[in-house]
Amino acid sequence: LKLFSCSSNPELAKAIAGHIGLELGNAEMSRFSDGEIHIRLDDSVRGSDVYVIQSTSAPVNDHLIELLVMVDALKRASAKTINVVMPYYGYARQDRKARSRDPITAKLVANLIETAGAHRVIAMDLHAMQIQGFFDIPVDHLLGVPILGDYFQSKKLNSPVVVSPDHGGVVRARRLADTLQAPLAIIDKRRPEPNVVEVMNIIGDVSGRTAILIDDIIDTAGTIALAANALKKAGAADIYACCTHPVLSGPAIERLAASPILEIVVTDTIPLRQPCNTDKVKVLSVAPLIAEAI
Ligand code: AMP
Ligand code: R5P
Repeated sequence: LKLFSCSSNPELAKAIAGHIGLELGNAEMSRFSDGEIHIRLDDSVRGSDVYVIQSTSAPVNDHLIELLVMVDALKRASAKTINVVMPYYGYARQDRKARSRDPITAKLVANLIETAGAHRVIAMDLHAMQIQGFFDIPVDHLLGVPILGDYFQSKKLNSPVVVSPDHGGVVRARRLADTLQAPLAIIDKRRPEPNVVEVMNIIGDVSGRTAILIDDIIDTAGTIALAANALKKAGAADIYACCTHPVLSGPAIERLAASPILEIVVTDTIPLRQPCNTDKVKVLSVAPLIAEAI
């Protein structure tokens, strides 16, 4: 068994290696003067089961190509199996033709990874479960809910209610609600255009309760901040939020800092954007879970 890290999340890769009790393999990643990526494997991988860890988080295109080049290098170096560990799968939100003439880029990414030579993929909280079927190779799909659930359970919150910020997240929120033995509420969210959110209604009772919002991704934080404001208006006592993938692009940090959310609990599938000038964000590690899956 050999583990390699690409450049998106070296801290997580080190933590995973630590849990397994292995050193990361030596690979030099560099750029030529024109920006093209070059990878040199310094360790032999001939006949080995190799795991390569790479989140295709921002800069998503660079990280994706780097992963593909790494898989190609491993294939040509005669690795026995190439197992791609993608804690965060970029382009997952382009999983269908939401409008006519849309591309389905999540499927294109799956094709690229498979064509490059991967034998198996380990992913976490894919935005849409059906992305597993975009691959013809096995996909192990890990969930962040147990990690987030353990954390909230240890906080012993008063009269919790788990809230899904949109109907697409109800199954995930239901899992967390079951873990915490709490009721569920759902926000009726509309998106008039990409990255713009409108809240319509809250389905369920949140008044006087501690609301825990859960989503797979917090990107610009429009969804979560607007949901938090709506919960406050509906009489929620305290508001927490959690997600697996802290994309946190654009105005996210400012929105979270200004929101009525007491604490935002995320995982380390994506390293936090620096500087993260709010102490509201708490990071839990998925390293033990991924190490176990490997
Ligand atoms: P959902 O309806 O929650 O599955 O989200 C899919 C919608 O998000 C589609 O309308 C996409 O056009 C849009 N979308 C896809 N990728 C992104 C992205 N990276 N950032 C913002 N919106 C996106
Ligand atoms: C899509 O619906 C996802 O589940 C998230 O709700 C969404 O990607 C979050 O994006 P933002 O933070 O930009 O509102």
